[in-house]
Amino acid sequence: MNKNYEKIYSAACAARANAYVPYSRFSVGAVLVLGDGTFITGANIENASYSLTVCAERAALAAAYSAGVRKEDIVMLAVVGDTVCPTAPCGACRQVISELMRPDASIVLFNLKQDIKTLKVKDLLPFPFTEGDLNNE
Ligand code: THU
Repeated sequence: MNKNYEKIYSAACAARANAYVPYSRFSVGAVLVLGDGTFITGANIENASYSLTVCAERAALAAAYSAGVRKEDIVMLAVVGDTVCPTAPCGACRQVISELMRPDASIVLFNLKQDIKTLKVKDLLPFPFTEGDLNNE
């Protein structure tokens, strides 16, 4: 793994350690990397009403947007979980990522074996539902 990825991987693992997962026991960490090098992290936060769970990716994006960050500022989202293959964002997260990140921004997926898969936002969710679809009157 290159030095840049090592720092991002470490930050994602540190975020993962903060996951609140009493139900699934499956911890996920996410890191958004901004153009100026800032990291903004998120972890999955579960709820006894299971469907109210917030995934790590959406937690990170909510933290970033809450701090005033916008899609133009975000160059990368990294995710780590204890999966056989690099951790794949769920469908709901793909929809949110598609709206809140640029299509050419990088997605970097890890597992604890440090396997890596990289792709672009636009490849994570082809043909997303967008704001433009609402303006069809
Ligand atoms: N989860 C994430 O946080 N991100 C993913 O990419 C996949 C799934 C969480 C949701 C839930 O807390 C747990 O993992 C098991 O589904």
